[in-house]
Amino acid sequence: MTIHIGAAQNDIAPTVLMPGDPYRAKWAAETFLQDARCINEVRGMLGFTGTWNGHPVTIQGSGMGMPSLSIYANELIKDYNAQTLIRIGSCGGMQNKVGIRDVILAMTASTLSTPSRGIFKELNFAPCADFDLLVAAHKAATDKGVPTHVGGIYSSDVFYDERPDLNEQMVRHGILGVEMEAAELYNLAARHGRRALAVLTVSDHLLTHEALPAEDRERSFGDMVEIALQAAFV
Ligand code: HPA
Repeated sequence: MTIHIGAAQNDIAPTVLMPGDPYRAKWAAETFLQDARCINEVRGMLGFTGTWNGHPVTIQGSGMGMPSLSIYANELIKDYNAQTLIRIGSCGGMQNKVGIRDVILAMTASTLSTPSRGIFKELNFAPCADFDLLVAAHKAATDKGVPTHVGGIYSSDVFYDERPDLNEQMVRHGILGVEMEAAELYNLAARHGRRALAVLTVSDHLLTHEALPAEDRERSFGDMVEIALQAAFV
């Protein structure tokens, strides 16, 4: 049990999927895991542990934004010894070649700042995904026939952005999409020698202003969960 996670020591699996939304954690656990049981309800940030093809898996909500994700990922890594952490979430598309519902596998995550900024000071650390997870997720996604892009994303601190010039620079530099959590997950994985990846579905688009209709969100989210699970256990 930690400050933010009520699970007993053995209740968290070495492999943890982290959606931002705790209700997506519940849906994913009930839909894809066998024998899923709720292992955390502290602050409503639901977590579930079960098995997938015989492998133990935890699906724990991270909340929105890097400060929230950082709390859960720190405790999962340092207190529960999680080894593989895969963010599953949505992002905003930032290139014309990226379509709504496409999957983005975040090879790197640029940021203005993260909760790790205090360590790096003037250094611009380059947070990156675990290569084996990235390759395995790419294979799983392409085998499924899901249009998939691999490259850099932008982990922003704000959803309602008052600095459109930053997005313009990200677009100009080939960044595929924007979300709010991956860079800190990659920082923590690097610091503690763990494996991390962000598998993202494009839910809205900054250039075309399209958005994924509510009825399509569940199916797209399901694809991401399956890609993450297959990548974790190749
Ligand atoms: N901005 C930031 N985070 C997001 C977005 C966005 O447009 N879409 C989904 N997550």
